[in-house]
Amino acid sequence: MGRRGLLKAALLLCFLAACSGRELTIKQNPSTTIYNSTLAKILVEYASAIYTADLTQLFTWTCARCGDLIEGFEMIEIIVDVENCLQAYFGFASDINAVVVVFRGTQENSIQNWIEDLLWKQLDLDYPGMPEAMVHRGFYSAYHNTTLRDGVVSGIQRTRKAYGDIPIMITGHSMGGAMASFCALDLVVNYGLDGVNLMTFGQPRIGNAAFASYFKTYLPQAIRVTHAHDIVPHLPPYFSFFPQKTYHHFPREVWTHNIGLGTLVYPVEKICDDSGEDPTCCSKWK
Ligand SMILES: *[C@@H]1O[C@H](CO)[C@@H](O)[C@H](O)[C@H]1NC(C)=O
Ligand SMILES: *[C@@H]1O[C@H](CO)[C@@H](O)[C@H](O)[C@H]1NC(C)=O
Repeated sequence: MGRRGLLKAALLLCFLAACSGRELTIKQNPSTTIYNSTLAKILVEYASAIYTADLTQLFTWTCARCGDLIEGFEMIEIIVDVENCLQAYFGFASDINAVVVVFRGTQENSIQNWIEDLLWKQLDLDYPGMPEAMVHRGFYSAYHNTTLRDGVVSGIQRTRKAYGDIPIMITGHSMGGAMASFCALDLVVNYGLDGVNLMTFGQPRIGNAAFASYFKTYLPQAIRVTHAHDIVPHLPPYFSFFPQKTYHHFPREVWTHNIGLGTLVYPVEKICDDSGEDPTCCSKWK
């Protein structure tokens, strides 16, 4: 079996592990009150705007994704880490009265290689200061070991000085979501900031179960939004028979997909329970 074959087999395995096909039971739980789909639609626009190739358009907020749902955004700074090909921006969003911080990870054209690497990725770094917590070194370093961390932290501090103690909304798509998660946790744990919120889109897993449990303690409002059967959120794989040693995502997840009824297609959102790897989360909508 070649590398492609292995890739397929491993993906199948992780879908099977993640979707054991139990029936959905709708429970009332705190996620229902924490997740706000209007806010999610706004944040996904911010998260997509960062893929704008032309930085001038992004900076002047005239890009194609800038502005249809988002009005009154004041760009403050774009941080570019040229060496590692990473990027973040932040600014003041008057409509939601918050500092919005957005991370971009990989360029679209390198995603295929990146996905293949993630399949074999071991937990390879002890997260500093948190016993038992292990994380993916690459994602950790992309935030902690590049120019992004200093730029974002000092930027948030400046923005709060200018606009008051407003909430901080951190977001990102795919690898950008992984970096957003490290950033949000860092702001709470290492800088003691309050009002930190995290909502990511199509984010891969970034650490083990112990690490995920720290999100429950420090960032219980963090939400990971995933779409249909996108591959990235299933990576690196989670094995339910080996839960302590594999990657595990943080508890709150909202699963979105489109449901087709005849010729009509409706977007559906399912708020999963906050147990982490909720096996019903990606099963069929009932
Ligand atoms: C959801 O978010 C939107 C945008 O921030 C806000 O206007 C609205 O009041 C929020 N809804 C609830 C129920 O909090
Ligand atoms: C951060 O970068 C330094 C210098 O490149 C390197 O020695 C160190 O191992 C990196 N840290 C992590 C956690 O990867």
